[in-house]
Amino acid sequence: MNACIRAVVRTGIFRGASVVGINHGYQGMMEGSFRDMDSRSVSNIIQLGGTILKTARCKEFQTKEGRKFAFGQLVKEGIEGLVAIGGDGTFRGAEEFSREFDIPVVCIPGTIDNDLYGSDFTLGYDTATNTVIEAIDKIRDTAASHDRLFFIEVMGRDSGCIALNVGISGGAEAILLPEKETSIEDLCKLLERGEKGKKSSTIVIVAEGNSHGSAYIVAEKVWQQLPKYDTKVTILGHLQRGGSPSSFDRVLATRLGYAACNALLNGENRQVVGLRANQIKLTSLEDALDNNNSFRLSDDMLEISKVMSI
Ligand code: F6P
Repeated sequence: MNACIRAVVRTGIFRGASVVGINHGYQGMMEGSFRDMDSRSVSNIIQLGGTILKTARCKEFQTKEGRKFAFGQLVKEGIEGLVAIGGDGTFRGAEEFSREFDIPVVCIPGTIDNDLYGSDFTLGYDTATNTVIEAIDKIRDTAASHDRLFFIEVMGRDSGCIALNVGISGGAEAILLPEKETSIEDLCKLLERGEKGKKSSTIVIVAEGNSHGSAYIVAEKVWQQLPKYDTKVTILGHLQRGGSPSSFDRVLATRLGYAACNALLNGENRQVVGLRANQIKLTSLEDALDNNNSFRLSDDMLEISKVMSI
């Protein structure tokens, strides 16, 4: 997000606009927590994880009165357009806000979950998957040396993108996804098949939002049926959301921030900027939100993950 904030600020200034940062997202908008941004205010942040502007969930902004109050704060500050970076909640807030009040908004998809329509990749996804793969590689050393069965839980409350991606890149034997039900029986069959195929260690990637619950629960259920396995669980948790962004994410953030700022200054409204087939594209906020729940895991990736696990 910092690389993206930097790009928005510098593009705006390059175009002759004044750029104001809003601290803590919609919460800060309600509180009138603004800060003037110049080129130097975003120096040396491209390599930093997190966001210098900070973020917050804001219940009041979910009400019409709250949004009205927030709009008043923007008017007082002389703010004439918004670039919002975030996930589904940010997009929903932006959609309602720009429909109700006279303020143009352009959104940038920022979430490690990679579950937003309109962009092949969301900000943070590449960095998060690289962090996860580093962890899996390290865990594999123990799994292989001690002939163990590891269950590794990765983030993704509603999205299996991280799980499927790292399952393939980390050579997992099985992947549990929120979007596709895998029964414990089927999982056990996969593990048994691996053993028959002379696999001595196994890694199962468990997406946080899978239907069985946490990796501990999955491991316990499997262990009840297959007690012979030496079973271990690792939950990677929030370390997946931090850290210095990958080069890919920094470039993506810069391209999307540049495009969003230019779109806003060129008069666009209620749009999402995204990268599709390596081209910057605009998608209407309505389309982005309407298609948000469509299944995004490609069939070939699912098939590849199965073929590679034999
Ligand atoms: O929405 C992105 C996400 O990373 C999910 O995958 C995860 O479930 C959630 O955020 C965790 O959010 P929080 O830090 O608020 O618990």
